[in-house]
Parts: sequence; C-alpha cells; structure tokens
Amino acid sequence: MRSIILPIAEDLHIHLRDGELLKFVTPLVKAGGAGRVLVMPNLKPYIENTEQALNYKQQLQLAEPDLEYLMTLYLNPNLTVTEIKKAAENGIIGIKSYPRGVTTNSENGLENYEIYYPIFAEMEKQNLVLNIHGEMPSNEAQNICIMNAEEHFLPNLERIHHNFPKLRIVLEHITSKAAVELIKKLGSTVAATITAHHLELTVDDWAGQNHNYCKPVAKYPVDRQALREVIKQGNSKFFLGSDSAPHLKSLKENACACAGVFSSSHLMAYLAEIFDKLNCLEYLENFSSRFGQDFYQLKPLNKYIKLINESNQIPSSFKVKSLSDDLIPFWAGKNINWKVEV
Ligand code: NCD
Ligand code: ZN
Repeated sequence: MRSIILPIAEDLHIHLRDGELLKFVTPLVKAGGAGRVLVMPNLKPYIENTEQALNYKQQLQLAEPDLEYLMTLYLNPNLTVTEIKKAAENGIIGIKSYPRGVTTNSENGLENYEIYYPIFAEMEKQNLVLNIHGEMPSNEAQNICIMNAEEHFLPNLERIHHNFPKLRIVLEHITSKAAVELIKKLGSTVAATITAHHLELTVDDWAGQNHNYCKPVAKYPVDRQALREVIKQGNSKFFLGSDSAPHLKSLKENACACAGVFSSSHLMAYLAEIFDKLNCLEYLENFSSRFGQDFYQLKPLNKYIKLINESNQIPSSFKVKSLSDDLIPFWAGKNINWKVEV
C-alpha cells in the first residue's frame, strides 16, 4: 500500500463559527489533517477587537485543545492605531477585509479602502497581515456580477500594495486566471490562498448544486486550469487556505442557499486526491504547509500526518445532534483514493 508522510497542514483560512456549530466542527479539523488554522472573524457580531478575538480563541481551545489557532480581526471602523498595536502585542496575526455584502456576514464590510490607510500603515509597522476577500459588489452599470467580481477587484489590491509595499497581503481563496497572473507579478509581500474545492470545481458544478456554492464562486475551466498550473509550478506565493465554511443542511438545501463549502473534516484527503489526479503529489507538502508557514513567518509544528492510498468513502452527512440538523461535507458520499491518518 502506498502512503506518504507529510508535515501536518497549515490551513490559513478557516471558518469555525460559534456556539454549538463551533463545538461540532472544530474537533473535525484535526481529522482532516490540519494542525494550525487561521480563523476568520466573520461571526455575528463580527470579531472587532483583540479582547473579542482572545475570548473567541479560548472557546476554540476548549472545543479542541490540540490545534493552534491564529486569530484575525474584522477590518471595521472602530479599529484604531492603538488597537492595532494591542492586536500585534497579543499575537493577533491578521486583519480581514470584506467588501460590503459580497458574502456570508459581510453586511459590515467596506466600500472604500482609503479611510483605512492609517490602519494599514500601522499594520505594516506591526507586521500584521492584511487578509482580503477580493470581490466587488455586483453592479449593473459596471457589468459586475459574481463571475467577474474578483477580476474587477484586482486594481484595489494593486493600489494597496503600491501604497504599502511592505504590508503583507493575502488575497484569499482566489478563483480566477486574472488573480493568478496578478499575484505572480506583484512583490513578495503579496500572496494568495487557494482552496481544495476551487482546484476541482467550475461554474457548472455549483449552478443548481448548492453544496458546491461558495463565494467567490468557482469560475470557468480556464480559471481552474490557471489555479492547477500554478500549483504544479510549485510557486511559493500560492498556498492552502481551505475556506471551509460550514452551514447547516437546512440553510444549504434552501431556495436561497448560504455560500460556503465545508471541507475541514477530510481536507488533506481531498487535496491528496486532487494533487494525485493532477500528477503533482510531490508538490502537496509545500502547498499545504511550507509556503504558508514561510509567508506567515511561523515556526514549523514538527507534527506529521500519514496519507494512505486506499479507498475512502466521504460520509454523505454528519448529524449535528445539538442543532437537530446535518452538515454536508464536500464530495459527500464520494469514494476517493486517499485517507488521512493523524
Ligand atoms: C464564507 C462563510 O460562510 O463564512 N462563505 C464562503 O462562501 N466562502 C465567507 C467567505 O469567506 O466568503
Ligand atoms: Zn472565507
């Protein structure tokens, strides 16, 4: 039987929710093969300051002590230069920006980056990372919709990078050829995360299939090809952020479905399957742990996982008893050829 040993994964973009859902999903992360995660702040209400982030971290540690949590704040009007200093002193890693209204819990996102320039300047000084959800809100006059929302966003990224060349910026969960090309071109302080599902899906796979629906949506085959190619090139500016975003079944199998794909529970098995199919398994280790570690200036975890090349049936659902509902994982019910042994 073929097996490979890899460093435990760094999942540098994850949604762990709160309350009962937090208690359910957080322990599943380890089983998926990740040992350290960058936790998104888009709770309701969102995590707006250091105190709230540290409190949230405590809840996560209670739910699963054997995971490392890197915390982020939601870029919001109450942030001050003093709060940024405090965040850095308390080990907060990044500040996440959501454009208004483009995704789950982004009603409080922003429209104009310039008002945040003093904050960005302090982040640059304190070595905090700016995590960007890079989509423009839909706009009829400008012909912007979910299929080109990321591409239309890219000039904003260029502008911020130009003004703050030392500020580390991650364009999160990229989905387009245009984004791949721009990230390659910009300086070494700019990188991107890629999800497992965006290496697999195109628009045909989510239209009418809510469990594959997430923001940004998967785009055209040519875009997926660009993501796959950059992985195969082993480019260190592109690394894993699963964007695992659990929503209960009743909210996914709904006429107005929530955006988000739940991938934490089998993350490294999905990636092994995808990389194997693309004939580039040898690049998985760098993608899933080293490149992200380097960009985020993290110490290695010195923990390992084993990926085994054997049949693995993804559960068709998880029962979330405490919420009397189910959670449907990515590739639910599918038989794949890789399994994680933690
Ligand atoms: C995320 C969520 O559900 O919190 N949804 C998603 O489709 N990715 C929010 C986000 O990261 O956009
Ligand atoms: Zn996300």
